[in-house]
Amino acid sequence: MNLSNAKNPPLCRLPEVVIQGSGIYLPSKVLTNHDLEKMVNTTDEWITERTGIKERRIAGEKETPSEMGAMAAMMALQNAGLTAEDLDMIIVATTTPDTIFPSTACYIQHKIGARTIPSFDIQAACSGFIYGFILASHFIACRSARHILLIGAEKLSAIVDWEDRSTCVLFGDGAGAFIISLGENSPDQLSFDIGADGSQWQILYIPAGGSKLPLTAQNINHKLHFLHMVGKKVFRLAIDSMEQSLTRCIEKAGISAEHIACIIPHQANLRIIEALSERLGIPGEKFFVNVEKYGNTSSACIPIAFHEAVASQRIKEGDIVLFVSFGAGITWGSVLFRYKAKA
Ligand code: ACO
Repeated sequence: MNLSNAKNPPLCRLPEVVIQGSGIYLPSKVLTNHDLEKMVNTTDEWITERTGIKERRIAGEKETPSEMGAMAAMMALQNAGLTAEDLDMIIVATTTPDTIFPSTACYIQHKIGARTIPSFDIQAACSGFIYGFILASHFIACRSARHILLIGAEKLSAIVDWEDRSTCVLFGDGAGAFIISLGENSPDQLSFDIGADGSQWQILYIPAGGSKLPLTAQNINHKLHFLHMVGKKVFRLAIDSMEQSLTRCIEKAGISAEHIACIIPHQANLRIIEALSERLGIPGEKFFVNVEKYGNTSSACIPIAFHEAVASQRIKEGDIVLFVSFGAGITWGSVLFRYKAKA
């Protein structure tokens, strides 16, 4: 399917921003494929072969997205050499907010002791972190903020049906945070691509719990408060949309794929990442993968993977890095940038 928005392409250059620090939080409880064998009719072999996932983290009762997000934020602030007082804005990407309102960002503002700075959530499902990255970069480009805390925090274990083997094996919980700051003027070619196709909303959604279909005993009995997914369609569109978004992003930057040191794709399924690599003719080694450890943590996938890639020196100062994601909506997004550790 052609998912182009090329008729009126948005301004595609990213302003000069740096990821001044990153942090992550992963619940300590590990749920392995063997554990799942005891819960639903599945096998470690099926899950590994079809998804590449071996285990995922499951949050405890007190490990809400705001709690996990605040922990990741504190680590990111420490790594950035900043305190919560230095922040000018908090943006949280989440599909599993603590409450419908107030925003998870407001809870986090309070938890980390930030000033009364603008704090809000954005919803673009698994593409949320990339949407947030681009949004934060523009606030910084306008000089409306110097340091923005961007978080992806998810508790997907709360919205999956633990009796549905086709979905419950795929997801996990966790949070990742970036401090995005104003960088120095740089001649590096940086670009982004984001888009959405709302006609595909029905392939991945939660029917009840919003104002259209409020939670009632009947809706809960029909399991309408859980995530519903048409797996095969999601699988195909994930590959199509990420392939096209990534290609547009590289073209906008005027570079070729060989210049990219590391691609961090949304970590939904190893087969999706392998298909992307094959279609684009980009070697598999360029893709950073940790889906085997955490499963799909939605908007938290990219910051968790980036943090691990930097910590393990898979990404080094000066490397050209590409983020690419896909999510419910459907939404997609890519960001291409040269990694600089500090402003
Ligand atoms: N264990 C064993 N068997 C299973 C399991 C399981 N956990 N789940 C499904 N099966 C069975 C099915 O019932 C089916 O059996 P049948 O042939 O007797 O009917 C068989 O396995 C094949 O099922 P398919 O759905 O055809 O399997 P497929 O190869 O498509 O893989 C999967 C399913 C892994 C869900 C795949 O479609 C996928 O990864 N889709 C994308 C999911 C995704 O990325 N979602 C998140 C998007 S991002 C976001 O915004 C949250």
